[in-house]
Amino acid sequence: MKITDFGKYKQAGRKISMLTCYDYWTASIVEQSDVDCLLVGDSLGMVMHGHDSTVTVTMDMMELHTRAVVQGAPSKFIVGDMPFLSNRGSLDKSLENVHRLMTAGAQAVKIEGVKGNETLISHLVDSGVPVMGHLGLMPQSVNTLGGYKVQGKSQQQADEIIAQALQAQASGCFALVIECVPTSLGLSLSQSLDIPVIGIGAGVHTDGQVLVMQDMLGAFEHNANFVRTYCNLQETLQQAFDGFAEDVRTEQYPNTDESYPS
Ligand code: KIV
Repeated sequence: MKITDFGKYKQAGRKISMLTCYDYWTASIVEQSDVDCLLVGDSLGMVMHGHDSTVTVTMDMMELHTRAVVQGAPSKFIVGDMPFLSNRGSLDKSLENVHRLMTAGAQAVKIEGVKGNETLISHLVDSGVPVMGHLGLMPQSVNTLGGYKVQGKSQQQADEIIAQALQAQASGCFALVIECVPTSLGLSLSQSLDIPVIGIGAGVHTDGQVLVMQDMLGAFEHNANFVRTYCNLQETLQQAFDGFAEDVRTEQYPNTDESYPS
């Protein structure tokens, strides 16, 4: 998938599939799959580093993981997430941070929130950086939201999200992630915008869907009802680890084929 395909896919009614990805190993498997694009999401702070939220994620972490994913999935369109506050300082500092992700190999950046980011988004787009917006539940704002809750439930909140989404489009975003909103709002957003709307917990009517890879693999504890698990990786890995430990204890591993003859 190329940047120019996002609009084409929306026009053609062809849904976009996106997964988060944080490392070389899984990226090289996704590389062989039909998944359209990858997001090196700042959720890596929680999934890969065990942090309580994404607030503690740094540019160093984002840059390192982006490089690994790019190595593993060279043919996929890869979006790098701007971590908490990395785009809220001076324009120069924000540009420097965006530059780090782009030179790590990202083909676009994702920025949470539109209010206060309009000038930066336009400047980036004018400078050749594709920008993906992110509205609805914005995990970096967990401390102001008071938890991970469904957003846009009242008409007033829904109208505000639609206004912000239109602003994201006007500022030059090529696509928008919308997280944890009622299905009806996911539909309104997809109908109101020319750019594709990629939902996570936003119902079936959005122009695409994104999931955290470890959630859909059943490899990470989660309680969000929108997650569909496509395998139980946690159980499979647990069995493999226990099998190895048992074989070592009982001297079933290594056998003669797995050893060098003297
Ligand atoms: O960081 C992330 O994983 C995300 C997705 C939830 C869209 O932003």
